Amino acid sequence: MSKVLVIGGGGREHAIVDALSRSSQVSQIYCAPGNAGIAQQATCVPIKDTDVNALLAFAQENGVDLTVVGPEAALAVGIVDAFRAAGLPIFGHTQAATQIESSKEFAKVIMSKYGIPTAAYESFTQYEPALAYVRTHSFPTVIKYDGLAAGKGVVIAQTFEEADNTLRDMLLDASFGEGKVVIEEYLQGPEFSFMAFVDGQRVYPMPLAQDHKRAFDGDKGPNTGGMGAYTPLPFISDQDQQFALKMILQATADAMVAEGKPLSGVLYGGLMKTPDGIKVIEFNARFGDPETEIILPLLATDPYEVFSRVAHAQPLSPLNWRQEATIGVVLASKGYPGSYEKGHVITGTEHFSGRIYHMGTRMQDGQLLTNGGRVMMCIHTAPTFAQAKTELYNDIKNIHCDNLFYRNDIAHQAE
Ligand code: AMP
Ligand code: GLY
Repeated sequence: MSKVLVIGGGGREHAIVDALSRSSQVSQIYCAPGNAGIAQQATCVPIKDTDVNALLAFAQENGVDLTVVGPEAALAVGIVDAFRAAGLPIFGHTQAATQIESSKEFAKVIMSKYGIPTAAYESFTQYEPALAYVRTHSFPTVIKYDGLAAGKGVVIAQTFEEADNTLRDMLLDASFGEGKVVIEEYLQGPEFSFMAFVDGQRVYPMPLAQDHKRAFDGDKGPNTGGMGAYTPLPFISDQDQQFALKMILQATADAMVAEGKPLSGVLYGGLMKTPDGIKVIEFNARFGDPETEIILPLLATDPYEVFSRVAHAQPLSPLNWRQEATIGVVLASKGYPGSYEKGHVITGTEHFSGRIYHMGTRMQDGQLLTNGGRVMMCIHTAPTFAQAKTELYNDIKNIHCDNLFYRNDIAHQAE
């Protein structure tokens, strides 16, 4: 029986903890730092996800057999390198491999070198040549800040003036730090998320999912960290999926091995089905949030087996997934993704019959309180989307809080 430490404290980590708690091989789960929902299934440890030294000391002192990393920030500061150097098994990519997410330019260079389909691009560190480049290209144009920006570093500029202002912000102002931008061709089509467990050249795909990034119904309002997700995706054919698996995920795994930076963890392809075929919008070096919350519950293979074998670079049998329509809706604090209040009381979660994964909650004096922008994700699974959707939206009415809102149209592209 094994002791596992999960790093992180959001909905994604709650889903990971929940998956591990289904394994017959796991006797104890710790989560650092965790949240109020995770605390019902794991022992939460108040250590920040990027405090590598403290996490390493905790794992050593408590005889942790396997550590599973959720957030990219922990990977980007080299938690995997530190644990491996100390001889501790850990699921996640090295700092060098994490560049596939942490540097937009690194990802673009890999894709062009190995012929992985993506938008045409140029990268710039100087304002004048960047401006000269946008002057000769059509609009809209896409300007991406190069570095971890938690989804805030992408501007789709509709006009020259907007592009100019964005380039000034990113390359001339200190607010973004050391300036580097990638300017790329604007692509159109439905977006979807294709994640896989990857160990060197071995790629084990997960079911496809789609996130809903805009705050309000009808894909209106500001961009968020994700307001809901669902799986499977009726608008992506088996042929599309096979193409993306081979030409994007497998090709990237092979490329990273060839570059001496093998992947070992989750590769997340943020993909778009364009009229010219499927192309990469971005890669992430970790589980997507909120996609993980609807995908991991469908994993029928022992989740500990999967994490452990990838961490030990041992081959896995093909994974088994339940084929069920799954929809998850995020309950977010009013005002999110702008400023919002914390500390509002949430009641009725015990009457919700689906799964709930907490994203930003805390307990105080026996009361569950909001403690973040995205507060919790409510999930239902059923044989059809229509059934999952009806059950989910009826069931959400059991949850009461005066400061939460949610989208009513999650999975609208599946209708
Ligand atoms: P990223 O952080 O790279 O995922 O970009 C955030 C969002 O910007 C994506 O989910 C897309 O909706 C949009 N986006 C990024 N790159 C492009 C592109 N080349 N063409 C059109 N939309 C894009
Ligand atoms: N769902 C988008 C992300 O995890 O980055």
